[in-house]
Formats: sequence, C-alpha cells, structure tokens
Amino acid sequence: MNSSSSLPDAKSPLEADSSVLQIFGGHPLRGHVRISGAKNSALVIMAGSLLCSGDCRIRNVPFLADVERMGQVLSALGLRLTRQDDILDINASELTTSKAPYELVTQLRASFFAIGPILARLGIAQMPLPGGCAIGARPVDLHVRGLQAMGAEVQIEHGICNAYVPGGHGRLKGARIYLDTPSVGATETLMMAATLADGESIIENAAREPEVVDLANFCNAMGAKIYGAGTSTITIVGVSKLHSIDYSIIPDRIETGTFLVAGAITRSEFSLSPVCPDHLIPVLAKLRDIGVTIIEEAPDCLRILPADVLRATDIDTLPHPGFPTDMQAPFMALLTLAEGDSIINESVFENRLRHASELNRLGADIRVKGNTAFVRGVPKLSGAPVLGTDLRAAASLVLAGLAAEGITTIQGINHLDRGYDRLDMKLQQLGAKIIRIKETSTDVELLANNGTPLNSTAL
Ligand code: UD1
Repeated sequence: MNSSSSLPDAKSPLEADSSVLQIFGGHPLRGHVRISGAKNSALVIMAGSLLCSGDCRIRNVPFLADVERMGQVLSALGLRLTRQDDILDINASELTTSKAPYELVTQLRASFFAIGPILARLGIAQMPLPGGCAIGARPVDLHVRGLQAMGAEVQIEHGICNAYVPGGHGRLKGARIYLDTPSVGATETLMMAATLADGESIIENAAREPEVVDLANFCNAMGAKIYGAGTSTITIVGVSKLHSIDYSIIPDRIETGTFLVAGAITRSEFSLSPVCPDHLIPVLAKLRDIGVTIIEEAPDCLRILPADVLRATDIDTLPHPGFPTDMQAPFMALLTLAEGDSIINESVFENRLRHASELNRLGADIRVKGNTAFVRGVPKLSGAPVLGTDLRAAASLVLAGLAAEGITTIQGINHLDRGYDRLDMKLQQLGAKIIRIKETSTDVELLANNGTPLNSTAL
C-alpha cells in the first residue's frame, strides 16, 4: 500500500502557502493513521542520489513542500526527476552544473548538504549559504572544516560557499574528522563526500540519528563502504563509483511522535503504522512518564490508549539517542495540560521556544527564561487565533487546538506543509474537526459551534 492510497490526492504542498487551519477542539480521535516516510531521510537521500551516475528509485517519499523544493534544487543541477505516488525516480547521469540556485537553497537548509556529493562527484561546488532561520543561527562551519580536512579549498564570499579540490584528478582525500558537536547535517555531508573520496575517512563524534543510518544504508546499497553508522565513529572507505538502486526510506519518527502526542492530548485510542519503535525510545519513555499507555500491537504498529491522568515531567533535548529537539514543541503542548510543573530545556538550538507565547494565548501557563520553559499545567485550553513560527511550533499549536475548547485558528501553515505529509487530512480521517481555509477568509464562523464545516473551502 502506498502512503497516499487512503488519503485524498496530494496537491503540491507548495500551493497551499496562504491557508490557515481551523480546529474545533475536544473531539477524541479513533481509527488508524498511516505514517509517511521520514522527511529528514527523504531530503538527504535525495541529495545522496547525486553520488550515483545511474538511476535511483526512492520509495516511501512523503508529500512535503521541502521534498518538492529539494527536487527543484536537483532539477536545477541537471538531474531528471519523476514522481508517481510515493515513488521518486532520480536520474543523476547528467549533473550539468556545480552551482546550486540561491533562491532555492536559502529556502531549504537541507539542500546545503548537497555540497558534499557535488564536490565528491565534480571536484567543485558552489553552494549559497543556507542562512539563519527561525530556530537559531545554524552555522555550517563543521561541514566546511570537514571538507577542508578532505583536501578541499573552501572560500565563502558574497554569501556563496565556493569549494574545489585542487590538483589534477579533483578527487577528495580520505581524512580523520572530529565534529565538535554531533551535527546531523555535517555528518551526512561528510559521509556522502567520503563515499567517493580516495582512501579511508573516519568521522568521530558523528551524529547517531536514524536518518544518518538510513542515508548510510542507501549509500551502501549503491556500493559505498560505510561502517559504523548509528555509532559515534563512522568509517568510510572511498569507492570510485556507485551503481543504481531501489530503496525505501524509514518511517518518520517525528510524525509518529506527533500523532502519539495528538492521541495523548485528546485522550484517544488509535493505532499507528508503519513505525520503528526503536527510533522512538526517548519519546515513548517520556509519554509513559506522563501517564500514557502505548502498546506494540505488531513490530511496526503501535496503539495508544486514553490516559486517565497526564503528569508533569522534565525534558532536556539532546542529540540522538537523547530526547529529540523536533519533539520539544509537541511535548510542550501536551505538558500544558499535565498535572503539576514541568521544565523543558532546549539544548540543541538557541531560539526554539517561540511557540510558548502562542500556547499561552490558548490559556497555557508557560514562562520562558533563556532556553528553558517552565510549564505549569492548567485544567483546560481555550481556542484562539495563533501563529506557527516554525515547523514544529506550528505542529504544537495544532495539537493544542485539538484539545482546546472552541475554535483555534492557526496561521503559518506553510511551515507545517514543509514537514508534515497532509497532517490535517490524516487528522480528519481520525475524526478531528479540522479544516483548511484560504487566509483571505478570516471568518471564524466557518466552523459551526459543533465543529461542522459551513461554507468550507477546505483543500
Ligand atoms: C537536522 C534536522 C532537524 C533537527 C536537527 C537536530 C534535517 C534536514 N534536519 O538539522 O530536523 O532538528 O538535525 O536533530 O535533517 N551546528 C554547528 N555547526 C555546523 C552544523 C551545526 O554549530 O556546521 C550546530 C547547530 O547550530 C545546532 C547543532 O549543531 O545547534 C545541531 O544542528 P544539526 O544537527 O546540524 O542540525 P541540522 O542537520 O541542521
């Protein structure tokens, strides 16, 4: 079964930029939700296809604006892409330019990671800096230093990162690289670059996220020699060429976690598949701390049961296998309704608590000091207009809106469409009263008091 079969046809997620979501809260969810392929795997595996001069068939690709943008970046580099449902075919035999387009790279940080494979393949790459973003500065110094260690000359001028490999054959050299911090993107950039380098590379203090392992598995299936992905030390023995591949990406652990929080916050019972429980250990542990019962119905299927009481807990975000920063905002929404005081410390990014003030608009009681949020549980939330400032912030507002009394109207849905595959439609299928309307219509009466859409222009 492909990921789109039980959902309405996917429009281009890029088309929906000017919409808002309206949620009539307080309705329990039930049924089953199908989890899509992992956003962060899909994006970097698409970049990884640049390493292969043949055909890559990638399965379980989610419908996301970020995936579309990454596709546009690859097309601009000369690659040929075709998509049928959740199958994406990429032919990278003609990588015609080493220069990625500014307008696209600045919209999508993950596209910067393509600097590794482009440089490995062509010996030259010109990549605009991705810039800062709503959640923090997000520099690329670790990517750059690693490529320099592999023999590249790198200069940053006028906002462009120009990299080339001096010498006749233009091939990167294997190197030993220590990352100051286990950056996901730097690990992926350097791992891809090293697959076609001359000799052996070792990345120490590497990121251990499941998406790093997925990328390594993808590259190895094309003939790369990557050992130790998923541990802090990754060894890559360079090969001269990679071959065609048919590969299916892992389920999205953050989407899974978001639906689990949706179940917990609405005291619902439903099942979720396909999932990888091993990728969710910190998330499942925290949900159980909070009082939520989750059972493994099958190795790839979870069922959440309605919680009697939600209890406060403390959260510190960390690199994998610590608690994921991408789940911090959804958990903050949940803890607003838990009994007692919770402390959430965001350790990975420096500016990722902006949803706190929006949750307060819904009646939450959260104080923020630096990178720490102090959440005092309240008995109920009440619907209000709110603004999602980044992807996971927008998700946290949807979750809060599902539990709030009355109507919550959420702006900033373009962020949501970047990283969640038709979240509103999947929630609708679970019984949520949620509709998408054009932003030009600000009439909150679009949902009647019982949550029935009136003159809905739901997409
Ligand atoms: C990836 C994920 C993102 C997730 C994040 C952390 C993708 C497309 N995105 O982002 O969803 O929230 O991992 O799990 O996979 N840093 C540096 N220098 C660098 C690179 C990073 O100082 O060169 C710092 C960052 O500012 C941040 C920390 O390292 O504070 C972690 O960032 P990183 O793991 O690189 O995140 P991304 O790969 O951008």
